[in-house]
Amino acid sequence: MSRIAYCNGRWLPIGAPAVPVEDRGLQFADAVYEVVKAVDGRPRDLDRHLDRLDRSLAQLRLAWPMSRRALTAVIEAGLARSALRDVAIYLQVGRGVAPRSHPFPPRARPGLIVTFRRAHFPGRRELEQGVKVISLPDERWAHCDIKSVGLLPNVLARQRAAEAGCREAWLVDAEGLVTEGGGSNAYIVDRQGKLVTRPLGPSILPGVTRSVLLELARQDGIEVGERPFSLEEALEAREALLSSTTSLLLPVVGIDGRPVGNGHPGSVGRRLFELYAAHCGLSSRYGGPWPSTRA
Ligand code: PDD
Repeated sequence: MSRIAYCNGRWLPIGAPAVPVEDRGLQFADAVYEVVKAVDGRPRDLDRHLDRLDRSLAQLRLAWPMSRRALTAVIEAGLARSALRDVAIYLQVGRGVAPRSHPFPPRARPGLIVTFRRAHFPGRRELEQGVKVISLPDERWAHCDIKSVGLLPNVLARQRAAEAGCREAWLVDAEGLVTEGGGSNAYIVDRQGKLVTRPLGPSILPGVTRSVLLELARQDGIEVGERPFSLEEALEAREALLSSTTSLLLPVVGIDGRPVGNGHPGSVGRRLFELYAAHCGLSSRYGGPWPSTRA
């Protein structure tokens, strides 16, 4: 079995019907989630993901569906059952099942769904050529730091990006500053070689990949500036980048059809990718000589 699901104590094929009609995740998006990657069957940065899950649960006043240790055991068991090498593990915790009524139901038990699917990490082509994004107004809610399953604006933005032949949509706030991508965090490398990304706050998801990348950058002597940046600044920057658990770190070479910097991936992104790939056990997949970057 490769694509499997764990749903409130039962192991199922991923396509099996399992969620009751009155599940509050289904009716109210009253649920939070995590996406964790496993490389060579081992979950990576699981502690950071479970810490963020803990924070999301607290913000929704939701209880853990089981202990952190038991959840880790479910993840390990699912990885063994799925027998996959590279895995996207999706965890969703919701407020459970109750007759439809907006306030929290007094007795519902939190529900847990975990799915295990093959992960597709970026290929060398994307890393060598970079990806393009479009910009769109950020029309999400005021708590984007909560990893909520209420993703409709993200879905619509990413659909627009896909229709435009782009990898991602960069969302722009009312001040003209980039918040993040529809499913990834956003960065630039400024003219001084500094890695710049929006500071944590309610307008962005605190990405696990972001937190690892900023640590790796600082350890490597790359200067980091946590401040907002505009689209104009991104177009003038040396490099632009996006990161997420499954996209890893990708060079962004175009925004709205205009080139970023010289229109090619640059050396800071390349160095950070090497560090990140080593951090999560992916170096051997991306080994071999790289074409020289032209930044
Ligand atoms: N998305 N910002 C948003 C809005 C996201 O949805 C994600 C992740 C990120 C990056 O976070 P992390 O580095 O922890 O993956 C930033 C996941 C992968 C998804 O929804 O599939």
